[in-house]
Amino acid sequence: MSVNIAIVGATGAVGKEFLSILESRKFPLNELRLLASGRSAGKKILFCGKDYIVQELTKNSFKGIKIALFSAGADISKEYAPYAIESGAVCVDNSSAFRMDDDVPLVVPEVNPYDIPKHHGIIANPNCSTIQMVVALKPIHDAVKIKRVVVSTYQAVSGAGLKAIDELKKEAMSILEGKEGFQRKLFPHQIAFNVLPQIPQSKAFLPNGYTSEEMKMVNETQKIMGDHSIRVTATTVRVPVIRGHSESVNIETVKKITAAEVKRLLSTAPGVKVIDDPANQLYPLASETAGRDEVFVGRIREDISIDNGIDMWIVSDNIRKGAALNAIQIAEKLL
Ligand code: A2P
Repeated sequence: MSVNIAIVGATGAVGKEFLSILESRKFPLNELRLLASGRSAGKKILFCGKDYIVQELTKNSFKGIKIALFSAGADISKEYAPYAIESGAVCVDNSSAFRMDDDVPLVVPEVNPYDIPKHHGIIANPNCSTIQMVVALKPIHDAVKIKRVVVSTYQAVSGAGLKAIDELKKEAMSILEGKEGFQRKLFPHQIAFNVLPQIPQSKAFLPNGYTSEEMKMVNETQKIMGDHSIRVTATTVRVPVIRGHSESVNIETVKKITAAEVKRLLSTAPGVKVIDDPANQLYPLASETAGRDEVFVGRIREDISIDNGIDMWIVSDNIRKGAALNAIQIAEKLL
């Protein structure tokens, strides 16, 4: 069955990835409607050898559309998803607008595909850092029940959009050329050759001292895994990497599990690839996982500080599995 698809935010970092994935997975498309702001209206985008004209997003943009893939930020999702639903479309929303709503499934297809049919017009795509973490945690949770997760992230600038990639490149060039007074537009501090413990860069810290990105990792992990007893604490950090989020993840489990058992479990888990050969200095790297679909796990070892603990290093392409690919996998399941 071929369907009519709309992409809201088609000119953005995730929007472009939607197109490349729809093409490579031979998604059964009938009509493809590319939507963005008025600034992009009339632009041409090449897809499957044919030029498509970007249209300005309006409340009338969704006539005849079956699935609308949203990735233009939470405000746009809040404003326009109701019009898409009114037109009979199902929205797969990459923003944080509806993720924690009780009647909105928050889905990672390898973890909780059974939540998809519970939707009422919106299915939320989780936060990028959460997606890659739960893909790796789910098989372990099913085997020995996870009590607590301590995660620190090393997140690529592409998570903050195309403008952030541009700012990193320009700032790095400016520093390398010895120029002073680089005018930053997005990040509050130097991101080139630096590490910023604040994501998103534009939002104030919460009263509990966490950032909203960190609280997303806490709340979304519990919702996706369907277990609110899992305790999660996160520190989310922006690093000068263009593509691919890395995470240092420590878990405490109810029952003991060895590193060898974790490796065995993860090597057959859906969507996971284990790269863990310390003797040969092999472990997942953002530079090598960019453009790949899987969640890569390495450095798997038993935590020497507690009885039932595991440490691991999880890396995935934030624009792909962390955003566009996960949303398209949801759309495929919807079909
Ligand atoms: P545009 O390119 O016309 O600004 P990114 O996350 O890479 O910054 O991309 C954001 C996406 O959201 C872009 O496709 C952008 O379109 C789109 N967008 C931003 N503001 C609006 C808006 N008011 N209406 C529709 N799309 C928007």
